[in-house]
Amino acid sequence: MSIEIKWFGHNAWTIQTSDTTILLDPFFDDSPTAPVKSDAVSADYILVSHGHFDHVGDTAKIATRNSSKVLTNFEIAEWFKKVGVADEMVIPLNLGGSIGLPFGTVKMTIAHHSSVLPDGTYGGNPGGFLLELEGKRIYFACDTALFLDMKLIGVAGLDLAVLPIGDQFTMGPADSLEAIKLLNPKRVAPCHYNTWPPIEQNAEEWAGLVRIHSGADPIVLEPGGVFTL
Ligand code: NI
Ligand code: MN
Repeated sequence: MSIEIKWFGHNAWTIQTSDTTILLDPFFDDSPTAPVKSDAVSADYILVSHGHFDHVGDTAKIATRNSSKVLTNFEIAEWFKKVGVADEMVIPLNLGGSIGLPFGTVKMTIAHHSSVLPDGTYGGNPGGFLLELEGKRIYFACDTALFLDMKLIGVAGLDLAVLPIGDQFTMGPADSLEAIKLLNPKRVAPCHYNTWPPIEQNAEEWAGLVRIHSGADPIVLEPGGVFTL
């Protein structure tokens, strides 16, 4: 069985299995690069990496309309309940913790970044996600600096790593190459770039460097682009 991965620009992705749609960091309505608005998006599960507006995005709207379960850190989970997401739809996690769900396993990994919610509420610690589903392991670093413990995240093998390359607010292209060496994934996709001028990057140039300096196969998408694992 194959898994379909779709990029909606920035750090917004869907992971589609035969029967489940998982949506990550659903930033649509205020995103300059999202190819669709949030009302066109459906999800069974929504993962939210940290509290920043460009990651929390349209989660509450999409979750309410689709009865999606929302997985995020404890503090953001509590905040979603206060802004109207039904209590039973919110699943809290914290760093290092994993949860088994009908489609597979989700683990919240460390990320070196910050996390405050759009209204100023403390957003706990930022995270990334390691997904195990249909025999594949997929790591979404989400907003983070490079960190040496990525070596541990890759130790069991990764079919795909998704890394930010925008720089300024997260790791940039050069540090992402070091991250790829630590993670040693089969394939790697860039994100969190070209949304706004401060994070403009040449992803094709990045892909060329990935091919030279690592064994990973780079996958560069346009917003709306899809590939299968
Ligand atoms: Ni952020
Ligand atoms: Mn961000």
